[in-house]
Amino acid sequence: MTTVSDSNIHEPAAMRAAMVNSLRGQGAITSEPVAAAFAAVPRHRFAPDATLEASYAPNGTVVAKRDEHGLEISVMSAAHLQAVMLEQAQIEPGMKVLEIGSGGYNAALIQEIVGPQGSVTTADIDKDITDRASACLTDAGYDRVKVVLADGEAGVPDGAPYDRILVTAAAWDIPPAWISDLTEQGRIVVPLTVCGLTRSVAFDREGTGLLSRSYCLARFVPMQGEGAAEERKVLLREGIALQTDDPRVVLNTTALDQALNEPRLERWSGAAYDLPDELELYLTLNLPEPARLHAAQHVIDQGVVAAPALLGVPALVSEGSIAYRTRRENEDTGGLESGVIAHGPQAESLAEHYTELLRTWARDHRRRGAATFRYLPTPAPTPLPQGTVPKRHGTVTVSWN
Ligand SMILES: C[S@@+](CC[C@H](N)C(=O)[O-])C[C@H]1O[C@@H](n2cnc3c(N)ncnc32)[C@H](O)[C@@H]1O
Repeated sequence: MTTVSDSNIHEPAAMRAAMVNSLRGQGAITSEPVAAAFAAVPRHRFAPDATLEASYAPNGTVVAKRDEHGLEISVMSAAHLQAVMLEQAQIEPGMKVLEIGSGGYNAALIQEIVGPQGSVTTADIDKDITDRASACLTDAGYDRVKVVLADGEAGVPDGAPYDRILVTAAAWDIPPAWISDLTEQGRIVVPLTVCGLTRSVAFDREGTGLLSRSYCLARFVPMQGEGAAEERKVLLREGIALQTDDPRVVLNTTALDQALNEPRLERWSGAAYDLPDELELYLTLNLPEPARLHAAQHVIDQGVVAAPALLGVPALVSEGSIAYRTRRENEDTGGLESGVIAHGPQAESLAEHYTELLRTWARDHRRRGAATFRYLPTPAPTPLPQGTVPKRHGTVTVSWN
């Protein structure tokens, strides 16, 4: 086992060992095969232009490509997220694995886990990325990994069925090929985007559809090509944007912008605010007309919108009114209390509805892993039941226990 001493701390093997320790400490690595893979694969060889420190930072990404606007379209994902997803996938020696979204490093980790009897195919839509991944894999000694240039929307039928499919770009939907290309006992781990939120969901088959086994917070570059997101984004004014993919939401830009000029109504839930990512998921899936409100720092400094919107916050939108979550210190609720800020003619009723959801979550679902995702490759029923999100090829349903 590689250990870190003062003398070798800047050498790749020592940095790798330190990264593995850190990933174990953070709870991202929980199994020996995943730990062994991270200890074996020389991560820096897949980021030749980055410093060793950047390559081995457990929570850092390394950019591989930006688009013409400077937005990241390909990165070497953070080791922390890769570890969490590999643990979710429960890959075993001898398995056949498809990765959608290449870079080389994650495919090499998978190759370590499946071993000589297993096989790994990695597909990317971008030739620059497949060329780079092939070169890095060869350089690092992982030339058994098959690199394919393809839009992952259609899967990679040549090689199917796969025991595992790992998707490493944020997917707005689950195309039919990903289900049909999976073995009966297969598992797909996919960063699924639902109403603007992305969670890495491990799905097993359930009938013709999929049932989640675990989920966790994930941030990925968006899927390109045929499977790109179907979202509406509007700017209310410079620095304030709303985004939604829910067909029920009407985005009346002028009225909503005017509403923000009206005095704000504040309501407090009397309930604890914690586990923000779990609460956010619950709110987004249970608000009757959900959208995501984003605000820039200068708008927050002006006092137009409160601070939670800086990172994006679930909002309830109805005609010319809007309500969104906030929080304040309150020792009586364990440190922090959740609340709502609302604007517009319906501020009172939206705030009441929103506050009730905050209380319900705190009372009934305030823990990790309370949600179960289902994916059915059939159209959503009308009217849309709460927790049901229509997609292009099927329907996502999220229930809570
Ligand atoms: C986060 S990077 C992948 C990281 C990689 N798995 C690693 O080892 O770190 C996401 C990749 O998904 C690719 N991608 C986006 N849309 C795609 C699609 N429709 N099919 C295949 N690849 C896609 C991008 O080109 C990008 O390289």
